[in-house]
Amino acid sequence: MEKTLSIVKPDGVKKKVIGEVIRRFEQNGLRIAAMKMLKIAKDEAKGFYIVHKERPFYESLTHFMSEGPIVVMVIEGENVIHRVRELMGATNPKDAAPGTIRADFGSDIEHNIVHGSDSKESASFEIPYFFPYIEIH
Ligand code: RTP
Ligand code: MG
Repeated sequence: MEKTLSIVKPDGVKKKVIGEVIRRFEQNGLRIAAMKMLKIAKDEAKGFYIVHKERPFYESLTHFMSEGPIVVMVIEGENVIHRVRELMGATNPKDAAPGTIRADFGSDIEHNIVHGSDSKESASFEIPYFFPYIEIH
């Protein structure tokens, strides 16, 4: 079964929407296979978002991702990578479709509540970045 990595970002934790994000995943038939809360160091955020290292927003993004606790989870389901991305909505909350997590709770293009792997390749890098095999159920 396909798996993806999702994160409730520091802004989502501050806005108290951890439960709402999980509810949307579960109510859409997806299964939480692993979950934990942690606060990552800036270097750990940099490693996670290494694909963006040349982007102008890399510094700001990795600062934001390390400024408060996050909730990381592995979600499992059929076509889960695509389905989580659909539930999240577009990167910029103002472009996100109504009813998506980012449209409902995001503040701006950086503070957009949630992360989801964007491909099988990303998922296979991102899941073991946070979870050893024995923590995925
Ligand atoms: P994510 O990786 O977090 O799921 O988001 P995404 O695929 O929708 O967007 P991506 O292009 O991968 O960007 C990663 C995160 O960087 C921040 N960002 N800031 N200031 C900007 O122009 C900008 N662009 C992106 C967002 O937090 C975005 O989710
Ligand atoms: Mg991305």
